[in-house]
Amino acid sequence: MATEALAAQRPLTPIDLSDNALYTENRWHAPFAELRRTAPLSYREDSPFGAYWSAVTYDLVQQIELDWQTWTSAWDKGNITIADGVGEIDFPNFIAQDPPIHTAQRKVISPAFAPSQMKTREEQVRARCAELLDGLPVGETFDWVERVSIPQTLGMLLILFDMPYDEWRDLKRWSDYASAVSADNLTDEFRAEFMEQMGQMLARFDRELEARRELPPTDDLLSRMVHSEAMGNMTPMERIANIALLIVGGNDTTRNSMSGLVEALDLYPDQLDLLHGDRALIPNAAQEIIRWQSPVTHMRRTATRDTELAGQRIREGEKMIMWYISANRDESVFPDSDRFDVTRENARRHLSFGHGIHRCVGARLAEIQIGTLIEEIVDRGWRIVPEGAPPRLPSPFLHGFTEMPVRIEKRR
Ligand code: HEM
Repeated sequence: MATEALAAQRPLTPIDLSDNALYTENRWHAPFAELRRTAPLSYREDSPFGAYWSAVTYDLVQQIELDWQTWTSAWDKGNITIADGVGEIDFPNFIAQDPPIHTAQRKVISPAFAPSQMKTREEQVRARCAELLDGLPVGETFDWVERVSIPQTLGMLLILFDMPYDEWRDLKRWSDYASAVSADNLTDEFRAEFMEQMGQMLARFDRELEARRELPPTDDLLSRMVHSEAMGNMTPMERIANIALLIVGGNDTTRNSMSGLVEALDLYPDQLDLLHGDRALIPNAAQEIIRWQSPVTHMRRTATRDTELAGQRIREGEKMIMWYISANRDESVFPDSDRFDVTRENARRHLSFGHGIHRCVGARLAEIQIGTLIEEIVDRGWRIVPEGAPPRLPSPFLHGFTEMPVRIEKRR
């Protein structure tokens, strides 16, 4: 069938879901709810990122994730976000690869997150969290993102890399650059800045990687990389891309759940009371915040062949956006889905970590970090009160806050 005839049959997405304003103004709930009811799979012809399909229900997102042969993640066939990449620059990290490269490289990284490693990590996370919270100015206004969410998540990453904590500001800057790609900054100037920052990051990490090459293998992520076949001899661009993946993957995501936690407990104070009454609910509360806040708004795949999905004909090379933020609100799986409910029985079924072969490798560590933060807040008898509406991230990819001004009060 001719392209125009095919396009004419497609249910069209009435608004551009990649529009930053939906997220900065926190008005994404209604359009996604409407699409879940009326058009679970729809097509948008024009956006700053070009044409794209949108899958907005739980089942569709799962279905796409499981069929990686039809829906590629490969960076050279598209990208893993709605933006097609930083202009002409290749970014070959393992989240943006298909098997067999993906399988081999993931195998190098994933043992660092195995249950046997998590006991030690839990102790380290708790010590760091307690130290951070003890240093907060109770009763005064301060920025929760700057004082808690950022240092807590970057601190953990530096532990995973076995690098000094005082380098967290550099890591934050590189992470911000690596995740800053959006339609309106794909200028020559941005590309030059991006490469300059990535070059600095590579120089710093290459020193660490080379030092570890000379030493016997240890548990840290960089040592695992240099001593492996799949990641021991990567090109400079592969090294940049994979280090950036670990930094962005571990940082922006968990950071925004930690800020979203403050918002959720403020909007649903009864849920904080429940946690005080029953500490055993805390692990489920961590799952629920990751569902409710959905730190990664979407991931993208690209069709490797002409195919059919949900009754629609999709052409090879077309862009498919899996909107996790909507799948996590799918009422057929999560009743009363906008409500933050620490007793929700299936909270852990959320899709915030994705699904299938790319499901987040750091998921357990993220749950530990968020669960520990909730425990430490509950144990201190705190209520964290936001001061005004927090500014939200202008991004269709990462969902969260740029700042979260708060004041800590003691619960009565
Ligand atoms: C993959 C979300 C924390 C490292 C992913 C994916 C998502 C995600 C959506 C892609 C899944 C897919 O395409 O199917 C999150 C969320 C987090 C979090 C919501 C926190 C609440 C972390 C942490 C780390 C990490 C703490 C590491 C320190 C990674 C890596 C991948 C990944 C390396 C690539 C996995 C692969 O391609 O096989 N994450 N993540 N993430 N995440 Fe996370």
